[in-house]
Amino acid sequence: MNRLCFGDNLEVLHRIDASSVDLIYLDPPFNSKATYNILYKSPVGADAQRKAFEDTWRWEDGAEEALDRVRRTNLAVFKVLTSLQGFLGQGDLMAYLAMMAVRLVELHRVLKSTGSLYLHCDPTASHYLKVILDGVFGPDSFRTEISWRRQSAHNDAAQGRRQFGNVRDTIFFYTKTSNWTWNWLYTPYDEEYVRGFYRHVEEGSERRYRLGDITAPGGADPAKRNPQYEFLGITRYWRYSRERMQALFDAGRIIQTAPGRVPQYKRYLDEMPGVALQNDWTDIKPLHGSNQERIGYPTQKPLALLERIIQASSNEGDVILDPFCGCGTAVHAAERLGRKWIGIDITYLAIQVIEDRIKTWLPQAKYSIEGIPKDEFAARQLAKRDPYVFQDWAVSRVGGQARGRGPDKGIDGEIAFLLGRQKKYGHAIVSVKAGQNVGPDAVRVLKSVVARERADMGVFICLNEPTADMRTEAATAGRIELPGGTRPRVQILTVKDLISGPNLGILTELNAVRAAQEAKAVQRKRKPKTPTADQLRKEPPLPPMSIKGGKAGHTQVPMELDDPVLVPQVKERRKR
Ligand SMILES: C[S@@+](CC[C@H](N)C(=O)[O-])C[C@H]1O[C@@H](n2cnc3c(N)ncnc32)[C@H](O)[C@@H]1O
Repeated sequence: MNRLCFGDNLEVLHRIDASSVDLIYLDPPFNSKATYNILYKSPVGADAQRKAFEDTWRWEDGAEEALDRVRRTNLAVFKVLTSLQGFLGQGDLMAYLAMMAVRLVELHRVLKSTGSLYLHCDPTASHYLKVILDGVFGPDSFRTEISWRRQSAHNDAAQGRRQFGNVRDTIFFYTKTSNWTWNWLYTPYDEEYVRGFYRHVEEGSERRYRLGDITAPGGADPAKRNPQYEFLGITRYWRYSRERMQALFDAGRIIQTAPGRVPQYKRYLDEMPGVALQNDWTDIKPLHGSNQERIGYPTQKPLALLERIIQASSNEGDVILDPFCGCGTAVHAAERLGRKWIGIDITYLAIQVIEDRIKTWLPQAKYSIEGIPKDEFAARQLAKRDPYVFQDWAVSRVGGQARGRGPDKGIDGEIAFLLGRQKKYGHAIVSVKAGQNVGPDAVRVLKSVVARERADMGVFICLNEPTADMRTEAATAGRIELPGGTRPRVQILTVKDLISGPNLGILTELNAVRAAQEAKAVQRKRKPKTPTADQLRKEPPLPPMSIKGGKAGHTQVPMELDDPVLVPQVKERRKR
């Protein structure tokens, strides 16, 4: 069964059986010290920018613990890490490497003996990651370093950059043993090659062909020598036996261009698979604004990239694992290619986006979701552990879009709901309280936010049953006319309601993919400061990829995707 797992991949990996996965692709944060945001076009009200994930690592955030885990599980990798630590100290980079090492050890454990791992990274830490991979897999298991040109060119001279532009990512390819799953892939010949080598065109069929040598060396040992005989008046050592040569001649595959000339083999262009794929990938362009598959999730990779990796290193029915799955490109590619899959991400938004991605483009896909609260107890635990994730989850349960962290002006989420048949939309404000002590004051605040925003409804979510005072406070907001009858303008829901399936009496159309596709841009929150000359030498502060994407004219493998319907907007609502 396919699995979509919400949570820290290290914890999820512990629940995956050893030697059960055929192919792993991982595209972890690159340690670029950026915060990646996703800008949501809100169907009603203002656009919301939400933090998707941070790419900053600190020693205090469990690096010591990660090192200790590696010490207990893989001494060779621990030695690699301690050597690196001797050089790098206990800084952010070392923290990043420790967190990667402990996960790579686990990934190696779950990989089948015929399995492969592809690690996608950029120059920020690729050299250190390769050393760690050598430690985990053994240096003999290194197969190749793929260079993916993710960007055409950029000129940062105006920003004070004094170095060549970084336009490529690195993808390390390792296999668990020397017997790995492999399918050759080919790219088409370029035109110059075709013109130079397949110069002949067959009359009638118009098929292009080239002529190939069929003579062979004689050799000193008569037992091993190639056959020598006369054919079409020419005596040579030949590559084929006399019978085979005659059969090929009868089939029109051996030709003599003029009497007295050495016969040659006719090789048609349309029978050739193309050029075996090399490790310099320049034909898969990054996603840009108008790509249909572009969702807007930061660092989203093209489907064509993942399809290539999956086709080369797995077969139908194999299990593909992406432990940092983001908006689910690997999951999408695996499903399209008939593979089974496991996707893991620690960001709730990523899980939401993947669910909607599947709903939109892969409605036939069957999968289970793990890590999302399925009962009241789990929901309460989540509220205690991470109130923000609880908030995200609660808002999504009522069909809304969460507002994210930071100053929220009393709005934790918003819902656009259908008002009657004319595709008119109502606007609800959601307020989520993850704490135990909630009283009528909090409901009063929501009422005032609903009034301030000129919203149609307010939804108040709390852990426990509301007190009588809270109910009274909500009731004073009055009622609203909805297609199914009248409803309180401010409604209170508890986690119990969220688990059993909330009924607000409204119809929503939330789809995170559609909402994200409406996003005008996905921007880094913090622009890098102008670097000093010393920083430039030490650490290229380039973003890992242009999230705005490259130029037009790409040759992306076409996707057969339905044109997604965008979430309609209630325009000019604020001007009322
Ligand atoms: C570079 S993005 C992956 C993008 C992905 N390849 C795509 O095409 O959408 C990295 C992802 O790793 C996730 N992540 C970071 N730390 C994680 C962890 N410990 N466990 C699981 N996911 C994690 C982030 O939430 C982010 O979505």
